[in-house]
Formats: sequence, C-alpha cells, structure tokens
Amino acid sequence: MMQETRIALRFLGKYNPDSIEEFCALGGYEGLRKAVEMGQKNLIQEVSDASLWGYGGAAFPTGKKWSVVAATKGKQKYVVCDADEGEPGTNKDRVIMTGDPHSVLEGMAIAGFAVGADKGYIYLRYEYPQLFPVLEKAIDDARKAGYLGRNLFGSNFSFDVKVVSGGGAYVCGEETALLESIEGKRGEPRYKPPYPSEAGLFGCPTVINNVETLAIVPSIVLNGGNWYASIGIGHHHGTKVFTLSGNLVNRGVYEYPRGITLRQLIEDVGGGCPDGHRLLGVQTGGASGNIISVDMIDFPMDVEDCAAAGATFGTGDIMVFDDTQDVLEIVENLLEFFTHESCGKCTPCREGNTRLLQLIRKIRRGDGTMEDLDTLQDLCQTMKDCSLCGLGQASPTPVLSTLRNFRNAYLNRIERGGKE
Ligand SMILES: Cc1cc2nc3c(=O)[nH]c(=O)nc-3n(C[C@H](O)[C@H](O)[C@H](O)COP(=O)(O)O)c2cc1C
Ligand code: SF4
Repeated sequence: MMQETRIALRFLGKYNPDSIEEFCALGGYEGLRKAVEMGQKNLIQEVSDASLWGYGGAAFPTGKKWSVVAATKGKQKYVVCDADEGEPGTNKDRVIMTGDPHSVLEGMAIAGFAVGADKGYIYLRYEYPQLFPVLEKAIDDARKAGYLGRNLFGSNFSFDVKVVSGGGAYVCGEETALLESIEGKRGEPRYKPPYPSEAGLFGCPTVINNVETLAIVPSIVLNGGNWYASIGIGHHHGTKVFTLSGNLVNRGVYEYPRGITLRQLIEDVGGGCPDGHRLLGVQTGGASGNIISVDMIDFPMDVEDCAAAGATFGTGDIMVFDDTQDVLEIVENLLEFFTHESCGKCTPCREGNTRLLQLIRKIRRGDGTMEDLDTLQDLCQTMKDCSLCGLGQASPTPVLSTLRNFRNAYLNRIERGGKE
C-alpha cells in the first residue's frame, strides 16, 4: 500500500488523548504560540499561501474566509467547528477527534486569534456521544495548562471553547442551520446573504470550519503555508483525508496528497473489491456526490479534476460498489435518506425528494415508462436550481449521474418490467 502523508492525522496513535503532557511533548500548542507571535496578518497570509480549502464539502478557501471575518467589524466574533459529520460513509472527523482532540482545539484557537474571536463552539454530531467527554476533558486540560482561557502566552488574546450537541439531523451540518441550532432554534438553513462571516452566530461575524480543516492549521503555522501547498502531487496542493467504504478489502480512513488518482485509492489503498468481484461503480464526495462507472476512475482527486471528470470531491468519501450491487437500489436508498432528512422549509426539496423516491420505486417495481426518465431529469434540474440549501441542491446528483452513467440499469428495468 502507498505510504500515507499524515498532516490532519499527524498525531493519531502517537499520544493518549487523555494526556495533554504527551500532546505537548510532540510539539502540541507550539503552533498556537507561534501564531500569537507572528500576528494576525502574517498568520492569515500563511493560511492563504497553503491553499487550504475547507474539507467539510464546499471547498471554500480558508484564508479568504478568515480574512473576511478579520476585516468585519464586531465587538463579539466566534469560531465554530463543524463536527456534525452526518454524511453517510464519512468518518474522518470522528477519527480525528477521537485520536487527536487537542489539534482541533489548537486549530480553533489559532482561527480565533486570526479573526479576533474569543469564543469557540464545537458542534458535535448527536450520534457521537462518546466524544463529548473526550473533548470536554481536552478543553479542561488545555484551560489548566494555559492554552485556553484569558491572556494566552501573556498576550491580550483570550479564547475559550464549549461543546454543544448536534440536533441529530443531517441538515444541521449545513453552516446556517447549525448556527440556528446553537442559538436554540430549529435547525433550518437561513437565507444567504448575509453569510456567517458577516452575520453568523447571534448575528456576529463567525468563522465556521470543518474538523479536518482546523486540525491541519497548527502544522501550517509551524511549517509554513508554502510547505503545505508543496505536498500535493504535481500541481495539486496539500493533503486530504479520504474515507474508503463499501465493497473494498481495506475500508478505512487514510490521508494522501491531493492529486492521487481515484484508481490508486480504490486499487492500491483500498485493495479492490473482495472475493474476486468486479468493480461496478463508485460514489465520490458523499451521499449527494456523483455515481460514476468503473471506466471513469482515472483522474486525480482534487476539486476541479473531480468536477471535470463528472465526479465530486466533497468530503473525500469514496463509496465503492461491486458487480453484486443494484445501482437503482443504491439510488433508492440514498433518496430514502434525503426524503427523511429534508427539513421541509422549501418546496423543491421537500416535495422533490419524495417524488424522486416514488419514481425510482415505480421503475424498480417494473411500472416505469420512458416518460418517467424525462420527469426525473426535469425534477432534478428544478431541485438543483430552486432549493434553498445544499441538501436539496445536491440530493438529485445520484439520480442525474446514474441516468447518465448507468442508463442501461434504468432502461432494463423499464423494458423487462422490473427484473434486472
Ligand atoms: C446538508 C449539508 C450538510 C453539511 N454537513 C456538514 C458537516 O457535517 N460537517 C461539515 O464540516 N460541513 C458540512 N456541510 C458544509 C458546511 O455548510 C460548511 O461549508 C463547512 O462547515 C465549512 O467548513 P470548511 O470551510 O472548513 O469546509 C454541510 C453542508 C450541507 C449543505
Ligand atoms: S433544501 Fe431541503 S434541507 Fe435545505 S432548506 Fe430546503 S427543504 Fe430544508
């Protein structure tokens, strides 16, 4: 198997998360110390030079986000760590927080210093209750050791962190629904603009970053933005934590330089399909990512290359399925998830996902017509164009991509009356 390049996973298995002493012995919190010494402007420049793009799914440049919040006037500012990780098949944030909670706290404190925020929240997935005590212990230890709290390193910078429970809904990972949820309201997305960087938590300028994004920040501060940017393969920058799931021999969470090809991830890292089965297809980027066929996997894993290849970078999830799987059953499964998780605030998503599910079930039963395929296509386009948030905008992707890449699966069901 190819050697991993661990940056977000730098300390995994190397210290006991219970022991801040062990973390500090590895150089932990030295990034925060250096950040405070280098000043806000230089710090944001390093993060911009790193070409660090948010790893929560939307791939927004982190340096740009921080500079907007730093430049926005506000007596109170916040840093929020999006640890909701509701994406089916994505487990990377759980792995990071379980093995290295202090790097996440350090990344949050550095973000706080960069933008002038003195309060941070970790919005922790409701289904990860085991991580509550882990994070709270880490926060407590960091406070006692002087890495959280007032006047850090003798400066006038203060920063503290609180863990709050997620609402138990996929949509609560969406940044504005998450803010509503922290404020004690229903976790429904807000209209944008204004964006959270200008009016976020309790109306104050807020940085929201994913766990993986924040866990990388201390290494960038310690080693420099150009160092991180130079790690990718060819012209690609940095690393990505990929979650390999489905019909693979070596399922798990791995970190590789961006630019590694999807084929390498599936075959060299994942070990291919088990029991001699043939690869049929793969969904990349998460549950709302594109589903592509076996002949489409020779491209570098990065945001633009994925888009050009008709795939999705997203959260770095790679869900593989072999020739024993039924593509339409997979699509039905995903639509059941989206129908259940739609918050119902806007019509295209609330009604659209339900209708997509009905149509797929009709086709799977053998009652589908060619007209239904046109209806699916139209409905998906309307949902993409008119839904309020990313859930409804992206949930048609599995349908659209399978209509394109696995059209025969639909045609066979229609022609053979439901039999494969
Ligand atoms: C339906 C939906 C669910 C999301 N869930 C998560 C999540 O669980 N974790 C996450 O970091 N980002 C999630 N996002 C993306 C966030 O809205 C936001 O882009 C991200 O937290 C920003 O952090 P980053 O710039 O570090 O990626 C979700 C977006 C949508 C539309
Ligand atoms: S797109 Fe779906 S999840 Fe998002 S606001 Fe509309 S109904 Fe809610």
